Amino acid sequence: MSAPKTLQDWLQAEAPSSELAGVITTIAAACAEIAKVLRTAPTDGLAGATDHTNVQGETQKQLDVVSNDIFIKHIRQNAAISILISEELDEELHMQNQGRFAIATDPLDGSSNLDVNVTVGSIFSVLAVDPNAPDLLQPGSEQLAAGYAAYGPSTSLLLTFGKTTAAFTLSNEGVFMLDREAVQVAAQSGEYAINSARQRFWDAPTSTYVAQNIAGEEGELGKRYNMRWVGSMVADIHRILMRGGIFLYPLDSETTAKGGRLRLLYEANPMSLLLEAAGGAASTGHGRILDVVPTDIHQRVPVIMGSSAEVARLDALYAKAK
Ligand code: AHG
Ligand code: MN
Ligand code: MN
Repeated sequence: MSAPKTLQDWLQAEAPSSELAGVITTIAAACAEIAKVLRTAPTDGLAGATDHTNVQGETQKQLDVVSNDIFIKHIRQNAAISILISEELDEELHMQNQGRFAIATDPLDGSSNLDVNVTVGSIFSVLAVDPNAPDLLQPGSEQLAAGYAAYGPSTSLLLTFGKTTAAFTLSNEGVFMLDREAVQVAAQSGEYAINSARQRFWDAPTSTYVAQNIAGEEGELGKRYNMRWVGSMVADIHRILMRGGIFLYPLDSETTAKGGRLRLLYEANPMSLLLEAAGGAASTGHGRILDVVPTDIHQRVPVIMGSSAEVARLDALYAKAK
């Protein structure tokens, strides 16, 4: 058996450039620090909300702010990164350097799960920019790299440069160790994830898709389905990367005015790149998420992603409804 590989070994072999490897190293260090802070947050006075609201109109938790600050601190130490876009910052943050990379991040995803000790995560996307005339409104297909850290029973780091998706686990010594070189998302699955309390807002394709699943082996599909919803996108997508499934946050009558619930640049795009590189699919219901050209850094988007056959089945229902 060959020696266990560290993230650094993997980056040396897989990263398209040493600069990009350095950017990932910086982000991984931020994630490792967040993992450490989360472990003892309840007894460190870090539970609960602040009295601030972010640009999304959501109350920030103390740990949303702390995680965002950790990202900023690490990114400031890497002169290759000139811009940070964050869920927790109204506008992008420009570093005073000539770095050719921009990072978009949801520094703490699933923060409603913090007070109950359920898995949360950090999501990130890496873009190439001209520091003198940065274009931040690039479609997700232009991402140079993407990933997330899932802070669960162990801390996982999932990474892609667009070709394969690799999984790492944080060791007790604080080193990310490779545990899967090329994650593959099962094409078929019997698990779906949706907040079903929103049923009254759903459109016809979503309602039909879920009704077919619930009908199970007695229904037209003749197949049993199970429903799972953590309420942390990172945890739900991690489950899908590991064992298949579909994750839905479609456009519904309540989110139509906003364009959806989840954010394109730092939630949907990085997850789409990871899933596609692992053989999965990611759609708005009307096309590939990675093809959406953003008009705003905090833009929202409908999300249908996971096992390719399940995404295709819901896409077909959308096509039929046209
Ligand atoms: P965030 O904590 O970064 O605001 O993101 C929460 C997102 C996502 O993680 C999750 O899938 C979804 O919101 C949960 O939505 P519901 O509140 O409808 O369950
Ligand atoms: Mn989020
Ligand atoms: Mn968040």
